[in-house]
Amino acid sequence: MGGNLMGKNGLLELKEKIDLDRIPKHIAIIMDGNGRWAKKRFLPRTAGHQEGMKRVIEIVEVAEKLDIKYLSLYAFSTENWKRPKEEIESLMKLLVQYIRNELDRIHKNNVRIQTMGDLSKLPRLAREEVERAVEKTKNNSKMILNIGLNYGGRDEIIRGIKNILEDVKMGKLKEDHIDEKVLNNYLYTYNMPDPDLLIRPSGELRLSNFMLYQIAYTEFWFSDIYWPDFKEEHLYKAIIDYQSRNRRFGGI
Ligand code: IPE
Ligand code: IPE
Ligand code: MG
Repeated sequence: MGGNLMGKNGLLELKEKIDLDRIPKHIAIIMDGNGRWAKKRFLPRTAGHQEGMKRVIEIVEVAEKLDIKYLSLYAFSTENWKRPKEEIESLMKLLVQYIRNELDRIHKNNVRIQTMGDLSKLPRLAREEVERAVEKTKNNSKMILNIGLNYGGRDEIIRGIKNILEDVKMGKLKEDHIDEKVLNNYLYTYNMPDPDLLIRPSGELRLSNFMLYQIAYTEFWFSDIYWPDFKEEHLYKAIIDYQSRNRRFGGI
C-alpha cells in the first residue's frame, strides 16, 4: 500500500547518493497527514495515527544509522487541543505506547530523549512516561530525539521572554547582554544547533507554529505523501536534495 514501495536495490542506490561527510546535523520533521491517510482508506483517523507511530519508530532508527545528531519531531501542537477529545486521548495513548515499546531500545542505542513544549498540560500518565524517558536517557550522547509535545513556536518564545525578564529582575542577567544567543539559551532547544533541514510531508506548505525562532536559515523539504507513507527512501531523498543546495546565510 502507499504506492511508494521501492525495491531493495533502488533503496541502496539512493542511499549511496548521500554524502556521508555532509549529513545534516539537525533534522526537524512536521509529521503530518495521518488523518488524510486514514480517510483515503475509509479508516478512522486514529488508524492513521497508529500507522504514523510505526513510521516514527522506523525513521528514528534510520536517523540513528545515518548518524544524525539531532532529530526534532512535531508530535502535538499547542493548537491540537482543538481536536475532538477522543482523538486527543488516542494520541496520548499512542505516546505512552511508543515510550513503553521503544524506551529500552532507544536507551540501549545511547539516544537521549528530550522534549519541547509545556508538559504540565498533558494527561498525567503521558506526562509521567515522558518524564521517565527523559530522565532515563539524560546522559546518552549518540543523538538527541527532541519531541514536540504541546509545543508552539510562539509559546516557546513568550516563555523564553518571561524567563529572561525574571532573570533580569533577579540580577542573574544584564539587559544589555540580551542578544540572539541569549534568547536561544532560553528556548527548549538551548542545547541544540538550529535545524539544517525541515521536512513536512502531507502537502501542506506551512510551518504551523513549529520552531519559529530556530528555522531562520533552515532548508525546507516538502512532499505530498502522508506521514504514514513516509519511508526510509523519503528521508534519503530529502537529505540528497538538501545536499544539493547552496546555503549562503546571507553571504554570497
Ligand atoms: C498529524 O496528522 C498528527 C498530528 C497533528 C497530531 P494529522 O492528524 O494532522 O493528519 P491530517 O493533517 O488531518 O491529515
Ligand atoms: C502540525 O500539523 C502539528 C503536528 C504535526 C503535530 P497540523 O495538522 O496540526 O497543522 P495544520 O492545522 O494543518 O496547520
Ligand atoms: Mg494535519
